[in-house]
Amino acid sequence: MAEAEGHILVVGASSGIGRAVAERYAKQGAVTALARRTDRLAELAAAGIATIAADVTDLAAIGGVLQAAVAERGPLTGLVYCAGVQIIKPMRSLGVDEVERLYKTNLIAPTLFASAFGSARISTRDAVFCAVSSVAAQRPEPAIVPYSASKAGLDALIRGLARELAPRRAVAVAPGWLDTEMTQAHARMYGAEFKEALEKRSPAGAATVESVVEAIAFLMSPQARHVTGEILRVDGGATL
Ligand SMILES: NC(=O)c1ccc[n+]([C@@H]2O[C@H](COP(=O)([O-])OP(=O)(O)OC[C@H]3O[C@@H](n4cnc5c(N)ncnc54)[C@H](OP(=O)(O)O)[C@@H]3O)[C@@H](O)[C@H]2O)c1
Repeated sequence: MAEAEGHILVVGASSGIGRAVAERYAKQGAVTALARRTDRLAELAAAGIATIAADVTDLAAIGGVLQAAVAERGPLTGLVYCAGVQIIKPMRSLGVDEVERLYKTNLIAPTLFASAFGSARISTRDAVFCAVSSVAAQRPEPAIVPYSASKAGLDALIRGLARELAPRRAVAVAPGWLDTEMTQAHARMYGAEFKEALEKRSPAGAATVESVVEAIAFLMSPQARHVTGEILRVDGGATL
């Protein structure tokens, strides 16, 4: 498969899906990795990846961050927005700060990244904006309602961008449950029993970070040049 070349910005690149995406693209072109944790970014820098330590909830800084990335490594041919936070708790227990942080990270920041990305000074005409959504957008579960709503908003953002930012493309992947730091933070909830049940209800087997990265690589590639506005579910069929 021919791969997208040029300069790819990965937002939320310090662990999980984003880190795997950054490492994959670093083998074939220029990559800029953005996240908050500087120790993790230092590991990526050692692999030749340009890094930006930034918090996406600093919304006013987003335009400048993109300009700095482009000044250093050239116009973007792709932006993969992987940053995300999940809050698992009932609606009645939600705090204002955590709800604000969730929507800023999962929906408002990608909106502002996309806004800047649409400029000819920031990205090439054939560039691709790819976001990491979730199956929760289509199937909101109790205790992750705001997370699901933020991802449903992200899906609508992608479909709208596909129309407004053309000829640039906008796409997303919607993974099911994955073994990453996000879910490892709730190890008690996602124990052996959960994983066994997930495997059983996934006709194609439970999805992995690697299979999600493969799906992103396809959507970003020239082979997918006529695919835009698409939210590709990668969950082994668990939500069928
Ligand atoms: N794991 C799953 O089961 C699953 C399923 C469906 C969808 N997803 C989605 O997949 C995406 C990636 O998550 P993951 O599973 O790979 O988890 P992860 O390992 O926790 O990765 C989350 C990434 O987001 C970054 N991030 C979070 N808040 C940020 C902020 N304010 N500013 C900058 N970066 C920030 C983190 O970096 P720093 O902490 O260093 O800033 C980290 O690199 C998320 O959007 C998540 O919703 C995950």
